[in-house]
Amino acid sequence: MKRVRFVAIQVVCLFVVVFTVLLGYNSLFAGSWERWKPILLHPHSPPAENEGSRQAADAISPVTPPPPTNSVEKKLGDPRLYEVAPVYVASIMDPDYTVIPRLECPTLHEPRYGYLRATISSTPSSNLRYFFGLDLRQSFKVLPRLLGSIVEAVRFLGPSSCALSIVEGNSDDGTFEVLDLLQPELEKLGLKYIFRHTDVDSKEGERITKLAALRNMALEPLHSKSLHADKDTTVVFLNDVAVCSEDILELVHQRVLQSADMTCAMDWVYVGNDPTFYDVWVARTLKGNTFFDIPPDGNWNSAWNLFWNDSESKRRYQEMLPFQVYACWNGAAVFGAAPVLGLPPPNKEASHTVDSRRISFRSARQGECHVGEPTLFCKDMWWAGFGKIAVVPTVNLEYSDEAAKKIKDLKGYTSKWTESESKDSLRIEWASEPPENVKCMPGWENQSWRPWNETLEE
Ligand SMILES: *[C@@H]1O[C@H](CO)[C@@H](O)[C@H](O)[C@H]1NC(C)=O
Ligand SMILES: *[C@@H]1O[C@H](CO)[C@@H](O)[C@H](O)[C@H]1NC(C)=O
Ligand SMILES: *[C@@H]1O[C@H](CO)[C@@H](O)[C@H](O)[C@H]1NC(C)=O
Repeated sequence: MKRVRFVAIQVVCLFVVVFTVLLGYNSLFAGSWERWKPILLHPHSPPAENEGSRQAADAISPVTPPPPTNSVEKKLGDPRLYEVAPVYVASIMDPDYTVIPRLECPTLHEPRYGYLRATISSTPSSNLRYFFGLDLRQSFKVLPRLLGSIVEAVRFLGPSSCALSIVEGNSDDGTFEVLDLLQPELEKLGLKYIFRHTDVDSKEGERITKLAALRNMALEPLHSKSLHADKDTTVVFLNDVAVCSEDILELVHQRVLQSADMTCAMDWVYVGNDPTFYDVWVARTLKGNTFFDIPPDGNWNSAWNLFWNDSESKRRYQEMLPFQVYACWNGAAVFGAAPVLGLPPPNKEASHTVDSRRISFRSARQGECHVGEPTLFCKDMWWAGFGKIAVVPTVNLEYSDEAAKKIKDLKGYTSKWTESESKDSLRIEWASEPPENVKCMPGWENQSWRPWNETLEE
């Protein structure tokens, strides 16, 4: 039986890969910034033929990202989509609004997360406690769940201590119109909402450079004096995932509880009947390895065998306990604003941040392994002394409401686990050093081990 299933999965995977390569990224993986990964066999190769690669020699230099502000454009929405948008706005603002079906989420567990609330402060200039950042493109369907959960978390945490920064790019499905119409509603709530559109298209030209520029654009308001971000500000950066508010708060909570610098979820994709860990191109264990083994032919047959060569990560993962990694993103990441603002880590001698260097998203330098911008972000975090990076396996995400329901049913909602959590082995024993070598995988066919610190020396 097992054998039959195994072969079936193989066939499905092969089919998907071939199908995807034939059709280009658009058909299967549209709607997500990150969904290119499983089929990104040749990150250096030009974009799919059907994507107007004539224009690839565009305004964006492949090496240096443009100053983000230059890329913020005015956009006129589509009047027809503005007609549909109010229902979505209503659904985002009201958790009980059921006209649009979405993933059902448990109510927030007050005793667990209450301490995260910003203390009431009457001074309007008090510090920013929580900063939510998102890049969204063609994410219309997931907006009620994704933004509804953010609004719920913001209401819980205290709207006046929160800011929400969304960068929208090239959507024609109503994403822009909904996000635009949200402005007055979120202002009424008392939330600072920075919504911008950009024409930067991650599907053309140097993907990683573009994706990095887009993420930096979402983070940019952190540097604005008027927001009052400081070392105590928590950044919540979300992909276009169907997330519950408890997922968000659990990542924030674990960062506090574990004194972590960064916490990530686990994200999944349904390629066949069984879910597969998704962010395998980006994430690396504390041993520097991928979360599952991918042979040079790029097949995902070992996707079921997570942490196959790392018994400690495997044990903690199976016990649903947070564990330290070298790099992660996994659909949702929570980190402090300090590295982004160029501030040193807490209770530590400023190591490599003595020059107040700000960490931002970037693509690989000359001579550096060509990996995704979140991996390089984590690498720079380690370098600056922020290496307490952990995955929280109780938080499991997918990219659509339907599949998120499946993954929640399979893995359990976050609160299912936190209700029965055992305090004993919860704490991570942090390693202070990154792995000496990290698996470099620009493409599946070309994997090698490289020193973690290559090109860092100055
Ligand atoms: C598994 O890990 C051990 C020790 O970390 C290492 O020597 C070995 O090469 C690894 N095997 C694979 C297949 O990565
Ligand atoms: C594989 O990677 C090595 C070093 O990382 C590089 O020199 C080589 O050109 C790459 N080969 C291919 C086929 O991409
Ligand atoms: C990386 O770290 C090793 C060991 O600490 C050190 O010997 C080497 O010089 C470093 N390389 C760079 C490029 O910083």
